[in-house]
Amino acid sequence: MREYQDEAPVGGKGIEKQQTEEKLFGERKIAPEVKNILEKEPVILELLKEMREYDWVTFDHLMKVGELSVAISKELELSSSESDLLLGSALVHDIGKLKISKEILQKKGKYSDEERVVMQSHADIGAEMLRDLGEYQKAEMTQRHHEQKRSRRYQVNGRKNVPMLKEKKGKHASRRDDSGLEKLARLLSVIDIFESTGNRNRPNNRNGELLAKRSEELEYFDSDFELEVIGLLQKWETERAIDKI
Ligand SMILES: [Fe+2]
Ligand SMILES: [Fe+2]
Repeated sequence: MREYQDEAPVGGKGIEKQQTEEKLFGERKIAPEVKNILEKEPVILELLKEMREYDWVTFDHLMKVGELSVAISKELELSSSESDLLLGSALVHDIGKLKISKEILQKKGKYSDEERVVMQSHADIGAEMLRDLGEYQKAEMTQRHHEQKRSRRYQVNGRKNVPMLKEKKGKHASRRDDSGLEKLARLLSVIDIFESTGNRNRPNNRNGELLAKRSEELEYFDSDFELEVIGLLQKWETERAIDKI
């Protein structure tokens, strides 16, 4: 698994605008697949530039979720259209945070209930931004990236643990669908949770507060396919830690 090289934020609007792609990403190692998609889809590059300028921590997270999605796509041998959609969505899924005030976005302590509602709106805001740009599939993925967890929670707790979570065949099959956009949305949710709970650059995770909640956050993802992805992510994380010793 590749190691990420982080870099301190660079300030100054004028300077930022003159930055080339290389300068934008600094010393960070970028997977060729990420470079390719940024060339093919300049809208993603522009949104990432804007995010880096607005909130480096979110930019860092988007890049890492993007890199992990490349690695997962390879392991699962996704088709090129699936890999592109997963990667493109991974790189912009939190873009709605551009519209969340820095006061809330960069807050170090716990959110109030009101602030949490504002924060949670970033998925809808991001989806709207992407729809306005004509990026309908990425909008759908963005809209769902937190819904996955919430809907699972509802299925488990709101319906007394019955059938929705069980894999079923035929007419009464559960909502779980290992194909198409649904599968990719689930993948993105798992990678997103995994990366964000492990990312120590986050102001609310400096001492591993989010990491302590990772298994709780992931407990609703329990199909074979999801467990395989979680296993891969854990393996890579462990290997990365071992490399550093
Ligand atoms: Fe998010
Ligand atoms: Fe995210």
